[in-house]
Amino acid sequence: MVHYKGRIAEVLLEEYQNASARLYCPSEAVPRPGQYLQAHGPDNPMEVVPTSLFFAGENEESKGATSLPVAGQLPESWQPGTELLLRGPLGRGFELSKRARRIALVALDGNPSRLLPLVSDGLRQGAEITLFSEEASNGLPIAVEQQNLKELHKGLKWADYLAVDISVENLERLEPIFAKRLPAALAAEILVAAPMPCGGMAKCGVCTVRTRSGPRLACEDGPVFEMRDLLLDRSFNIGTLNW
Ligand code: FES
Repeated sequence: MVHYKGRIAEVLLEEYQNASARLYCPSEAVPRPGQYLQAHGPDNPMEVVPTSLFFAGENEESKGATSLPVAGQLPESWQPGTELLLRGPLGRGFELSKRARRIALVALDGNPSRLLPLVSDGLRQGAEITLFSEEASNGLPIAVEQQNLKELHKGLKWADYLAVDISVENLERLEPIFAKRLPAALAAEILVAAPMPCGGMAKCGVCTVRTRSGPRLACEDGPVFEMRDLLLDRSFNIGTLNW
């Protein structure tokens, strides 16, 4: 079990910045895209459950420390300068192939923050990147094309790597959007954002996700899963996209 100390550098309040905060931490604590840290402020007795923080952009090295944009539901008591105890990096992250040249990112809940580290990695390896979302997102690199989710059927034919972000309560949206539409050759992964109160320490089961191979823990087996493992016969009684 690896623990580190970190510190809130900046709380980001503007929606266009995508992330929630910038965090100073040792470089060994930096999660890979899709992985997370469990963080808590040891000086606050009201914090009984740690906060899951996802890597959400591009980190910067400065004066021997790493400044990391992170996304998560921050406690109100966290302010610039708040010292944090960090555990991690935890979980299975995205496995972006070095050969991927056409990357489709899909933010099904609107906010692409947890997908953004893939933008940096993808651009470094010369890939084209398109973000599909129901809402336009500000503050993305100009090289990233943005498309409405209604155009995703074209993206599924174009891409050679697909990364999706969805919250656990919206998993029933997957089937109408992706079932029978994923080309066999398309590498496809999905990050399931679920409450992860124990981060695998107590096996509480709160983060359980149904997969083709049975129940899995988002905190340990995920939060990134193979997309095809999550395409189950879930409820269809929801609004579907018009395409
Ligand atoms: S958060 Fe407790 S088992 Fe996953």
